[in-house]
Amino acid sequence: MLVLIKNIKELLQIRSQEVIFLKGAEMKELPSIKNAFLLIDNEIIKDYGFMENCPKFDVDTIIDATHKTVLPTWCDAHTHIVFAGNRVQEFVDKINGLSYEEIAKRGGGILNSAQKLNETSEKQLYLESSQRLEEIMKLGTGAVEIKSGYGLCVEGELKMLRVIKKLKENYPIAIKATFLGAHALPVEYKNNKDGYINLIINEMLPKVAAENLADFIDVFCETGYFTVEDTIKIMEAGARYNLIPKIHVNQLTSIGGIEANVKHKALSVDHLEEMTDNDIKALKNTSTMPIALPTCSFYLGIPYTPARKMINAGLPLALASDYNPGSTPSGNMNFVISTACIKMKMTPEEAINAATVNGAYAMGLEKTHGSITIGKKANVIITKEIPNYAHLPYAFGSNNIDTVIINGKVIKY
Ligand code: NIG
Ligand code: FE
Repeated sequence: MLVLIKNIKELLQIRSQEVIFLKGAEMKELPSIKNAFLLIDNEIIKDYGFMENCPKFDVDTIIDATHKTVLPTWCDAHTHIVFAGNRVQEFVDKINGLSYEEIAKRGGGILNSAQKLNETSEKQLYLESSQRLEEIMKLGTGAVEIKSGYGLCVEGELKMLRVIKKLKENYPIAIKATFLGAHALPVEYKNNKDGYINLIINEMLPKVAAENLADFIDVFCETGYFTVEDTIKIMEAGARYNLIPKIHVNQLTSIGGIEANVKHKALSVDHLEEMTDNDIKALKNTSTMPIALPTCSFYLGIPYTPARKMINAGLPLALASDYNPGSTPSGNMNFVISTACIKMKMTPEEAINAATVNGAYAMGLEKTHGSITIGKKANVIITKEIPNYAHLPYAFGSNNIDTVIINGKVIKY
């Protein structure tokens, strides 16, 4: 099955297979060609180039992209889209003056979601989660990482990871699964953190590994949650099952987690709203990708990740949504790009690079996703007729997407 997209006004993010991730000044460059074609062979990008070299042979489908821009689908490397119900009451509580930490102290927050999740059947959880997955695919996301972390008990964590596995089997979008047993202390272990960490290490991890349910391991490394020492212990246990760390860190406080994560070869460190100069230094010339989640800052009213400072210091940066019921009830990567530009002063080129090439790297998908590269997955967004690509972050309230293609198939949910 051959699909030809022709008369593309501008084809963005054309790269050779060698590009792994982009850092510092490299993030300012967004290679493109104007008046282009793109040829898709089943699931794969077969060819692209200037219209004057457009193939003349017969194809199965022709899509005319006159006045439209084409770019790779978003790679969202940090989400929690498997959850039960919602936390809209906490949203109202926040408007009335309570902070995220105060809500958590009252038994709300992650523990509220854990209670809901453990009362919900696997079938219902799958149903709710699949609706969110379809929603983000329509919004242009073509690869996504999904975490557990609302079970906080053996059965609950396994239930979440099994739902993620089923989503993987039933949808064309690339999905990576992360085991986040260490998201919060469940009520039963309120005064027994070591007991809960032992449960994670001795009971949850072996079962997760036996069913092959996770690619990565995550910990909420934060004051009041898990210390740097706890995080190291859990990362080391995960490593025995080949689970690579992707860690929640520096969201509310800087406690030295980044340095430890880098030492343990974390693929990414995520949130980073609170960054010291030492934290930035620890990330320099490493293989650990920093991930900013600007719509979380937007929603909670906490500081934004100092993206400018980090990129100017030569670091790479990825952008992700953090879609979850408590701190970011949105998986719209288009809005993530806008907030990155508007609030973190990233240029449109930097934001698009952060949400495609660098997002793919932060999920271990750099060989197959994140750019228009011959041989990579045919995952593209065709925009509506927009003046240029800067219009994407600029017109933040508009739906600028005309068509989404994932694994060569037009998404029609
Ligand atoms: O990434 N910070 C920790 N975890 C999530 C929020 C979880 C929740 O509030 O349900 C986050 O923001
Ligand atoms: Fe998160």
